[in-house]
Amino acid sequence: MRYILAEDYEEGSRKTADLIEGVIRENQKALLGLATGDTPRGTYKYLREDFFEGKVDFSEVRTINLDEYVGLPGNHCQSFAYFMHRELFSKVNIRPENIMLIDGEGDPEAEAERYDSFLKENTIDLQLLGIGENGHIGFNEPEAYFTANTHLTELAEGTIRANSRFFKDISEVPKRAVTMGVSGIINAKKIVMAAYGHKKAPAIKRLLCDDKIYPEFPCSILKACRDVTLITDRELYELIKDSCPADVCLVKSGP
Ligand code: GLP
Repeated sequence: MRYILAEDYEEGSRKTADLIEGVIRENQKALLGLATGDTPRGTYKYLREDFFEGKVDFSEVRTINLDEYVGLPGNHCQSFAYFMHRELFSKVNIRPENIMLIDGEGDPEAEAERYDSFLKENTIDLQLLGIGENGHIGFNEPEAYFTANTHLTELAEGTIRANSRFFKDISEVPKRAVTMGVSGIINAKKIVMAAYGHKKAPAIKRLLCDDKIYPEFPCSILKACRDVTLITDRELYELIKDSCPADVCLVKSGP
């Protein structure tokens, strides 16, 4: 796992955007696996700005998002579809037919099958990930098992609490979601995980320092992946640097 230490959220977001744009430069038809939440917002800001300045072209880029709440219409301001259109898709020249999003109002099983049919025929070139405080990736929550394919999942109490910050009241947070399973994620050619701030430090420390792979800590599956880049800010790094073996937390220079 390559570890890029950024001074702060802005620098980490810039470096993440650089990695994404590098993949697009290599392959104009790249398939990007995208995430939602506060973490990737800075990256999408830089992608928008670079598009506006003519530095990146999305006209042939394809995207597939990790997950979506069940029961929220795509135009609901807290749906992940709405987030992606607001933060990126409506601001760049990506084609609607090249955007794969889960329909939160659709039949979850049918949506999962549609995703898996697509993923059987298409490999993600770069999968962008955030991380939940409990180590979830997408909405692959701590369980007694990993689920390979796209599936309907019950959100963990901690996830509902963490995500309630985006809603007027915690009662409004959907309890279920459709998420890409771990096979869609780990089959990506490159994975870039970004994590910033003290709240994510315990999960990242466990990811870096514990050599076990277990479904109760879903992000640990990344230890089986060949090309994973972790980007954190210094705030997080300072909280973990003394607790991991030096070689594990060795900070490698980024691009
Ligand atoms: C949600 C999303 C994840 C995301 C996580 C952390 O649960 N399903 O994909 O990584 O929240 O979000 P944030 O970046 O806002 O901390």
